[in-house]
Formats: sequence, C-alpha cells, structure tokens
Amino acid sequence: MEKLLELKEITKSYSGVTVLDNINIELFAGEVLCLVGENGAGKSTMIKIISGVIAPDKGGKITAFGNSYERLFPRQAIDLGIAAIYQDIDLVDNLTVADNIFLGSEKRKKNGFIDSKKQETLADELLAKLKISSITGNMMLTDLSTAQKQCVQIVKALKKDAKILILDEPTASLGDEETKTLLELVTRLAKEGMGIIYISHYIDELFKVGDRLLILKDGRMAGIKNADETNPEEVIHAMIGRDASSFYAREYFPLGEGILEVKNFVRGKIVNDVGFTVREGEVFGLGGLVGAGRTELVRMIYGCDKNEKGKVFLNGKDITPESPSDAIRKGIFMIFEDRKRDGILPLRSVKENIMVSANEKKEYIDLKKETKIVNESITTFDIKLSSQETEITNLSGGNQQKALIARCVLDPGNVYIFDEPTKGVDIGAKEEIYKHILSLAKKGNYIIIVSSDMPELLSMSDRIGIMREGSLLDIVQTKDTTESELMRKYVGF
Ligand SMILES: Nc1ncnc2c1ncn2[C@@H]1O[C@H](COP(=O)(O)OP(=O)(O)OP(=O)(O)O)[C@@H](O)[C@H]1O
Ligand SMILES: [Mg+2]
Repeated sequence: MEKLLELKEITKSYSGVTVLDNINIELFAGEVLCLVGENGAGKSTMIKIISGVIAPDKGGKITAFGNSYERLFPRQAIDLGIAAIYQDIDLVDNLTVADNIFLGSEKRKKNGFIDSKKQETLADELLAKLKISSITGNMMLTDLSTAQKQCVQIVKALKKDAKILILDEPTASLGDEETKTLLELVTRLAKEGMGIIYISHYIDELFKVGDRLLILKDGRMAGIKNADETNPEEVIHAMIGRDASSFYAREYFPLGEGILEVKNFVRGKIVNDVGFTVREGEVFGLGGLVGAGRTELVRMIYGCDKNEKGKVFLNGKDITPESPSDAIRKGIFMIFEDRKRDGILPLRSVKENIMVSANEKKEYIDLKKETKIVNESITTFDIKLSSQETEITNLSGGNQQKALIARCVLDPGNVYIFDEPTKGVDIGAKEEIYKHILSLAKKGNYIIIVSSDMPELLSMSDRIGIMREGSLLDIVQTKDTTESELMRKYVGF
C-alpha cells in the first residue's frame, strides 16, 4: 500500500506544557486510522498539526506524499490533498449551503461578483457525488439540522480532490441512522483509496470503520493496534486505565409530588403542539431521530426561540420564560447542543465561563470564594487545563463541555434541560456527568434530557417521550422498553 503520510518524533507544547509527546505514525492509502483517547489526550492537536493549522515543536518531521517538512501550512496542506473536518462546526448560518462550501474560494463572474448560480450547481454536483440527497446548494444553513451541517462540512472539505481525509468527532451530533450513513461514506472513501484519520469517543464506531487504532494517553502513544486483533474492552482500558461501559447503572429514588407541566408548544411544522409533564425528581428523556424537533422544542421551552402558545407551569404557577435570562431568573437552566454557538463565552476565561450563571443572581462577588468554587468544579469534573484564567477555547472540546456542565451544576435552579449533555465527552468522564445530573434529580429538581445516544437515554431517563416529525407520539417507561423497540418507534414501524 502507498504510504501517504508519516509523522516522526512529533512533539507539541504550550507554554512549557507538553500536550503531544514523540508521536510516530504512518498512514496508508485505503486505510482508516482511528485516534482514541480521553478528553485532552491530544487528538485534535495531532490533526491540527497534520492539516497545518498549528506548528509542532522543532525536531520532528512530517512526510506527506514523499516530501518531508518541518511543519505544514493550511493552504499547503489543502493543496497537497489533506482535507480536515474539525470538531466544532465552522460554517456561517446566514449563508446558503453553496456559499458556505465555496467560502474562501468563491467562484466569480468576469465582473468580480460571486457567481451564486454556478456555486449552487457545483454544490449540487458535489452533494450528488457523495449521495447526500436531503440537502441542496440553495438551502440556507440556518434551516439545516446539526447533522446536515456536518454533511456540508464534509462536502466543503472534499470539494478539492483530497487524498487524506481527517474527521474529528464527526458523529458527535448525529443519530444512529445518520451515523450509519456517515460511516458507510467513510468506508467507501477508504475503499476508493483515500487515507482516513477518524476520531471518535464512540468505541463501537471505531470497530466498525477502523483498520488500525492509535490510543493516545496524556499526549503519548499508549498503543497502536489492528482493529481485528483487539476489542472494545481492551481499548477502553488502555485509554482510561479502568473498565467502563456505555450503559450507566443509575440509582433510582422515589419521585416527589411536584409537577412541571409543559403545554402546547408549537412552531410551524417543526413542533406540533407538544406537551408533557415531569415529576419532581424525574429524569424525562426526549428521544427521536435527529431532526424530530427535540432541540427546537427545548429551545422554545427555555425562551431562546420565539414561542407564541407554549406555557410552562411549575406546581400550577406560570413560569414560561420570555428569554434565556428570564429563564435563569425563573430557575430554568439549559445546556445547548451547539456549545460553540450558544454555550461557551469564547473570549472569557474558564473561571468566568463556569461562574457566569451563578453570578447572574448575586449582588456582589466574593473573588476568593469564587476561585475555590471553580477549583472544586475543575477537580470534580477532571477538567484538564493549565489555569482557571486560561481562555475556554484553549481547552479541548470535551473539557469545554465539562466546564459547561460545571456551570450548570452550580446554578441553583429547579428545571434543568440538557440537550446532548455528553457530546464529545470521553467514556470515563461521562459517568461523572451522569452522577451530577442524577444528584440534581435526587434533590428534587426536574430534568429533561435530549439525547441521540441511545445507551445514555435508556440508562438515565425514568420515562422517554418519543418525538417524530415534530409530534410527541408516545411516552414509555424506560424500564419496560429496549433499544430496538425505541428505534422502531423513532422511525415509525
Ligand atoms: N492554544 C492552546 N493553548 C494552551 N493549551 C492548549 C491549546 N490548545 C490545546 N491545548 C491543550 O492541549 C491538550 C490537548 O488538547 P486536544 O484538543 O488535542 O485534546 P483532544 O484529545 O482532542 O480532546 P477532546 O476529546 O476533548 O476533544 C489539552 O489539555 C488542551 O487544553
Ligand atoms: Mg478534540
């Protein structure tokens, strides 16, 4: 097999802290090489070095298609045929799909203006080539689901003939069906001779697409294995140093008398007069395929999208929020699916990001106490960082998510809405998050969880509401159902 890429003695440090230590790997045409490791292990850093976004420390060597470099630059990497899709979606909401695909390499008319028609035609051709039928070039990005946006990212990356494709957690926002489609696409591209580097926290996925697995631990290579010579248990153990399962054995406790009522939420065809009740201490799951309207529903409940009819009552009292800050005042808290758009305050420190909601209600801030609280959160959730003053965007994706959960846990609310709470979080850290969500429930709060991660939904929820095409079709007791039964209900068989 042709060798496409080789990293030799690649190291990277930030202000003296080594985040990648002596990495040596090869990538061959036709193979899928998976990177796996805890949050902060160095996976994204490694692919940013390969795609030229950051430079490694001096001393190492990158060999691509037979030529060696001390570092690559982004343009150069693209020209060589290295396409990368990063962890967080990086597209512009108020542009069309086609404009997004050609952003930075616009097709222009003779007079210099952008040729939108041509871009749309080319975009449609690319979409057809990749067999993505639910999207057209003229659609506005804001009308797409997260999964569809992910597809647009792939099309954008592959618009030039790429020989190496790097995917950093591409399925973190996808449901089972879409994940399957994406994995098929990855397998097909590899069969056609591409070399693929694939990062995911879903271990089962790695075994579906991967030929070889590279396990990273604290920036070091903790093992490289052929997929057919190892198994998930062994990989998890090498990665986090102990056993863990994607099913969490939660504690059950008696529910209280209080009632949260969600009534009459409507938004065009996307949310179709949805209502349900949640008991004090209950974890109410919302399941369905991606695009079933769950995110749209919970965003309205939280008051961040327009809501004309919907009402929220807590023990008979109307607490319908008019805006997110009104929601926080009324004790409703939400973790968003898209942390880059709605979750993190990007230019602020980790400390500010953790404290922002708790501080909203305070008259004055005790700085000493604040530092202590933040330190406790960092320990509890095992957030990997150099200092609490560091900008949150310097944290790895999963560690940013942990900081958001820490923010949420500090906020004294009653109603907590989690939209994909463990997106991008490694299998070990997930358990810590589950424990905290359950302790919120045990204290008598009301919990709503939207999750496309079936084991997560099944092991966390008391009951699961099933949404399809905007309607809440059924509510099942979790203990009486199974993964396959839920799936059947999602798709409507
Ligand atoms: N610009 C930066 N400044 C300082 N530290 C950084 C910077 N970028 C990354 N790091 C640190 O490098 C380490 C590795 O981060 P990286 O994003 O590669 O992790 P990851 O394996 O992709 O994790 P995740 O699974 O959470 O995405 C982290 O501890 C992170 O905080
Ligand atoms: Mg990462």
